[in-house]
Amino acid sequence: FHDQTPIRRVEEMRADFVANASHELRTPLAALSGFIDTLQGPAKDDPKARERFLGIMHTQAARMARLIDDLLSLSRVELSAHVRPDTMIDLLPIIRQVGDSLELLATERGVTIDMDLPEGTVFVAGDREELLRVFENLIENALKYGASGGRVKVTLTDAASTDGASEIRVAVRDFGPGIAPEHLPRLTERFYRVDVGDSRSQGGTGLGLSLVKHILNRHRGRLLIESVPNHGATFTAAFPQTKTAEPGV
Ligand SMILES: Nc1ncnc2c1ncn2[C@@H]1O[C@H](COP(=O)(O)OP(=O)(O)OP(=O)(O)O)[C@@H](O)[C@H]1O
Ligand SMILES: [Mg+2]
Repeated sequence: FHDQTPIRRVEEMRADFVANASHELRTPLAALSGFIDTLQGPAKDDPKARERFLGIMHTQAARMARLIDDLLSLSRVELSAHVRPDTMIDLLPIIRQVGDSLELLATERGVTIDMDLPEGTVFVAGDREELLRVFENLIENALKYGASGGRVKVTLTDAASTDGASEIRVAVRDFGPGIAPEHLPRLTERFYRVDVGDSRSQGGTGLGLSLVKHILNRHRGRLLIESVPNHGATFTAAFPQTKTAEPGV
């Protein structure tokens, strides 16, 4: 039923967004102010406490910086939403590069990253930096939230989508706790997290999947999310197959 005009809904979403963003920034800021007070007062002459508090302040400042970077990336992608990227990019080196860059995190979490990629090249029309963000977010989430499964699988396949057009799909699968069905439709909302405390303790801002979704939309692709609780989750980035001129045909 229509008891709200679309304009009013957009206004409300914007207000919600500003409120959420402010709250997320205020949390680390409050911690910073608190420690500054402590360092100026009670802990003034305690070098041990000073060392420890400065460490925490460093982490909180880094958190604020990351949040601002993520918000800026999100607004940049939104502004260019109607411009489809047109550079032909080979997905394979991008996926491998992200895998390598997350190897350290994987080792820390006791997870092996298992890449099942085809030989040769797989081109899509895309933006290199944005594609890196997509796979970084998906693989990092799998390592962080699915660590208990001990394994993350990245698979690239060609698939026929529902309308018969062909798609290139990159699936990131973990074998962790998975996600209850009621959360699935909300995961790509900005700041939405299943467990805010858990995400925060891992340095998360809840903007990752929102960014992934916007990037894929801009690439005329889509994000598919499937999960069976207790058996893990699969996040699939799907791209429209770009028709390439076959040499000599
Ligand atoms: N593979 C997964 N298994 C279980 N839960 C997941 C998985 N991936 C994401 N989630 C849930 O979805 C939430 C949103 O993910 P998203 O990537 O948007 O944010 P984040 O990881 O918390 O923060 P950021 O990506 O900014 O570091 C996570 O907080 C987590 O609750
Ligand atoms: Mg994330």
